[in-house]
Amino acid sequence: MSNKKIAIFDTTLRDGEQSPGCSMYLEEKISMARQLEKLGVDVIEAGFPFASDGDFRSVVAVADECRNTTIAALCRTVVSDIESAAKALKTAKRGRIHTFIATSDIHLQYKLKKTRDEVIEMASKAVAAARECVDEVEFSAEDATRSDVDFLCQVFSAAVDAGATILNVPDTVGYTLPNEYAELVRTVKERVVGNKDVAISVHCHNDLGLAVANSLAAIEAGATQVECTINGVGERAGNASLEELVMAMAVRADKMPWSNSIDTTQLYPTSQLLSSIVSFGVQPNKAIVGRNAFAHEAGVHQHGVLSNPLCYEIMTPESVGVPKNSLVLGKHSGRHALISRYEALGFKLDDSEIASIYPRFIALADRKKNVYDQDLLALAPAGSQTAVAA
Ligand code: KIV
Ligand code: ZN
Repeated sequence: MSNKKIAIFDTTLRDGEQSPGCSMYLEEKISMARQLEKLGVDVIEAGFPFASDGDFRSVVAVADECRNTTIAALCRTVVSDIESAAKALKTAKRGRIHTFIATSDIHLQYKLKKTRDEVIEMASKAVAAARECVDEVEFSAEDATRSDVDFLCQVFSAAVDAGATILNVPDTVGYTLPNEYAELVRTVKERVVGNKDVAISVHCHNDLGLAVANSLAAIEAGATQVECTINGVGERAGNASLEELVMAMAVRADKMPWSNSIDTTQLYPTSQLLSSIVSFGVQPNKAIVGRNAFAHEAGVHQHGVLSNPLCYEIMTPESVGVPKNSLVLGKHSGRHALISRYEALGFKLDDSEIASIYPRFIALADRKKNVYDQDLLALAPAGSQTAVAA
């Protein structure tokens, strides 16, 4: 691998949490944050403290809990927001203020009702105020990919002059294409960053299904931080999926020789933990963590995989933490098989919990041909998962 280290910035608890069906209670956010730390992410964006008391408390709690990871708090380029973010991060071992303002004309005209000069001034003041409180300040130009590139570079330059240490180039509406996004990142690198010690970050939404491809193209062009979420949750069609990005880098290291700090065997347990918390699971054919991601139905495929998994598998299930378990769960399965599958999924269930789940499991198995991990998650009591490695 080359020396180019890609920082993994997880925003499941912020961008992810603000999407429909994904809101989480404090305890759930804390257990998710613990698991993200175990997964090895570099940054956890824990919330938007000014937005609500709940978000404020979550940032404080996650900062107290996760001492080996940078904790980021989001805020607008507004003094009250910055004060709130700084207060929430007070006890963080390593805190980062992430401040944003839109830069596209459409947002300036219809949402912010601000001139370009006003936006530059707000960005500059906010970054300077944030730098008074913390050493790491990330500045995001919301809707960067639909912004006038000269203006975008002007705003970014003002943010760097005011002390920003990371510049984020969000594709807020999932509109850009890989080559176009790469070109934009190259432009920002050449015209704004030069040889300054400022990192470029990318943040892609998946409205056209291109979030992962766009993020990888941007890294190739010079970005060194990628913002993403578990299971790709996030606003509308979601954010770039962490597990897809990381496994693309791992499987195609020949073309993308970059390193990162993720323990890939924690990908599936982390995905399962999130599915057990939010109100929906992942689609069966979701890359890396979907239940069909390593399933082979067609006879010719089964024959190939049995002869040598490399025929149809470009990575092993074990490498992403999918539990190895040849037992098929159905209506004839006993309690031991059920307990063992729950353990593989990271659940420690006591006797009374098993006594309550087992008859419901049998009833379900009676109705369905196969019982999947997703079904078991739905039957398990909330909070019983410890997300142990599979
Ligand atoms: O999508 C977006 O532009 C964002 C910013 C706040 C970074 O989420
Ligand atoms: Zn976003």
